[in-house]
Parts: sequence; structure tokens; C-alpha cells
Amino acid sequence: SKKVRVQHLRQAKERGEKWPMLTSYDQYSAEIFDEAGVPVLLIGDSAANNVLGYDSTLPIGVEELLPLTRGVAAHARRALVIADLPFGSFEASPEHAFHTAVRFMKAGAQAVKLEGGRAVVSQVKALARAGIPVMSHIGFTPQHLHGLGGYRVQGRGQDAGYLLDDALRLEEAGAFAIGLELVPAETAREITENLSIPTVGIGAGPYTDAQVMIWQDLAGLRSGPPPRYVKQYADMRTTLKGAVELFAKEVREGIFPGPDNTFQQ
Ligand code: KIV
Ligand code: NA
Repeated sequence: SKKVRVQHLRQAKERGEKWPMLTSYDQYSAEIFDEAGVPVLLIGDSAANNVLGYDSTLPIGVEELLPLTRGVAAHARRALVIADLPFGSFEASPEHAFHTAVRFMKAGAQAVKLEGGRAVVSQVKALARAGIPVMSHIGFTPQHLHGLGGYRVQGRGQDAGYLLDDALRLEEAGAFAIGLELVPAETAREITENLSIPTVGIGAGPYTDAQVMIWQDLAGLRSGPPPRYVKQYADMRTTLKGAVELFAKEVREGIFPGPDNTFQQ
């Protein structure tokens, strides 16, 4: 089937159809999620804390995300591939954003995503004008962890209007979609109803046009209890651990490799 394009996502909103989105950081996950019919894949800067072992998204850089983007882009046949612009790679100016976005587009991304509201409107405009589809990301923005004072729900009470105003400015600037992270459901609903571009929620309740999850969260690869907004649809940690334990046991007992796994003269 044909490649998913940004206009298809807007059309889905017009039809009232919700859609799923997942992160992907490598070839097999891209292939599997694409085959499963997920229309949008994100090379999130969350690779920082889901692949590279950092404790936040601040340390990850463009040089680390580019090869992951190439791997995903080469193996997603139908899904729209979006690359996250990491912390420090776009904030200084529209030119800064443009030069970084070009690198991701050359690596095979079909769109980019960047965090921030009114402060990055000029960046969003510059990319949209250059024909680079750009997704925004507001609410809790992990790159602003320290400025926001920790992992906190955003857009509660009086702040709801401020967040809606950010969303309207970003739509006006040319964003094709807006991610809403850790936002009360009613705030996300109000934003969703006031925009003609789709909203994509994570920890933003059921009323957004789409839902995004970090794939290792969905798959149950994490150790320890997941955050409240995550639902584990599989227990891959247990499955994988069981497979590895069996392999280790068979090696120790001389069961693996057997005749089927062995070349004869
Ligand atoms: O990096 C990421 O995974 C994200 C999603 C949570 C939207 O930005
Ligand atoms: Na991100």
C-alpha cells in the first residue's frame, strides 16, 4: 500500500478516525510496526533513555539519532517516518532548525518533530516554508525537564489557556500535527477541538486524534512499574529473558548446537 503522507493524517481527523503512533529506533521494530499497520513512526530522542541508557533526553545528539533514522527509514515501507530534533539542535534560530532538519531529511525522514510552543514559532515557520513537514510537541517537554522543575502534568487550571494559545500559534506557523504530553484530558480535548491539524497524545487522555507510545513501554521491556499513562500490551522482558535463560542452559548442558545447527564434512 501507498506511503502515508501528512495530508492523510489531517484527512483522518476530518473523518473522525483515530490513529496510533509508535517510536522506533531500528530496522526490525520499523518492519514489524509497519507490517502491523501503524501509520506513523517516530525516531524519538527518547532513544536517549530507551536505547542508549542515558537518564534523560538532554545528552543525545544529532550524530546519535541520524544512524537510527537511516535504519528506520530504510525499513518502514508504508509508515510516515518522523525524526525528533534533539536538545540544542534547533533552538538558536530558524537557520539552526533548518540546517538540522535537512540532515534528518537527507537521512530518510519524511518529517521532523521539535519541542516547544511560542518560543519556537519562527523555527516551525522556517521548516514549513522549506517544505519540511514539522510536528510540534507541547505540554510536558522532556528537553525542558530542568526548566519545568521535573516530570509534571502541564496545562492544569489557568495554564490550559496558555497551552491552547501555543497550539493555535503552532498551527498558524504551519505545523502538521501537535504532540501533547502529560496534559489533563479536558485540556487536550479543548486543544483538539480547536485545531484542524491532528493532536497526538501521550499521557493526555482519550480525546486526542492520535496516541503515541514508546514501543518498549507497550512491549513491557522496562524493569519496574511503568508510569500511569503506559499500558503494557506484552511482557517481552519475561519472554526474552526466558529465551536467553534456555539458550544459556542448553549451551552449558551441551544440547545446543544440535545436529540441525551443525555443518557436516
Ligand atoms: O521522543 C519521544 O519518544 C517522543 C514521544 C514521547 C512523543 O517525543
Ligand atoms: Na521526543
